[in-house]
Amino acid sequence: MKTVNFKDLRFNPFTLFGNEWMLLTAGNEKTGCNTMTISWGNLGCLWGNNDPTAVIYIRPSRYTKKFVDEEECFSLCVMDKSFKKEMTYLGTVSGRDEDKIAKTGLTPVYADDTVYFAEAKMVFVCRKVYAAELQEKDFLRPEPIEQCYPIRDYHTLYIGKIEKILVRDDEYLCPGTSLSE
Ligand SMILES: Cc1cc2nc3c(=O)[nH]c(=O)nc-3n(C[C@H](O)[C@H](O)[C@H](O)COP(=O)(O)O)c2cc1C
Repeated sequence: MKTVNFKDLRFNPFTLFGNEWMLLTAGNEKTGCNTMTISWGNLGCLWGNNDPTAVIYIRPSRYTKKFVDEEECFSLCVMDKSFKKEMTYLGTVSGRDEDKIAKTGLTPVYADDTVYFAEAKMVFVCRKVYAAELQEKDFLRPEPIEQCYPIRDYHTLYIGKIEKILVRDDEYLCPGTSLSE
């Protein structure tokens, strides 16, 4: 995996989250880690010098939330299509009940103040900057509440500054940019 500048990336952020999904992972080598599949999130610029930023949304019931809350950083891994079955499993079963990572055979790499998977195609290493629970009173339309929160288990949103981006090959790079250069 090679580190790349966010300015050299080319992909569709809507389909990257919504169709390809990502693995959200946090933890440390001493106490371990947990991962879950996410498809809700945003990539963009915020604060600093138009800092590259990721926003993720975690429901209170997720075991991964404890790890994200306890760590300064989290990672977002984009996986190859061939891992769809594993991603469905990681997004259905809780790490509270099973050793999910061992069952999938994915390889955690503890580095860059966080943990990600050796098998990832692209990794965003994010440092938490802001976290807030979505509040019922702040919704301006009722539809998301009715559709997504029948038991009022509102997500916590986390804004992470993207500190490092690793890619395996040229797939997500702008034309004319190559890892081999
Ligand atoms: C495609 C897909 C997308 C998901 N997106 C999210 C998400 O954005 N936020 C969230 O809180 N849960 C999301 N989930 C649910 C969690 O991945 C799921 O509850 C997981 O089992 C939690 O694992 P954990 O308890 O080990 O953290 C998604 C699940 C799937 C299958």
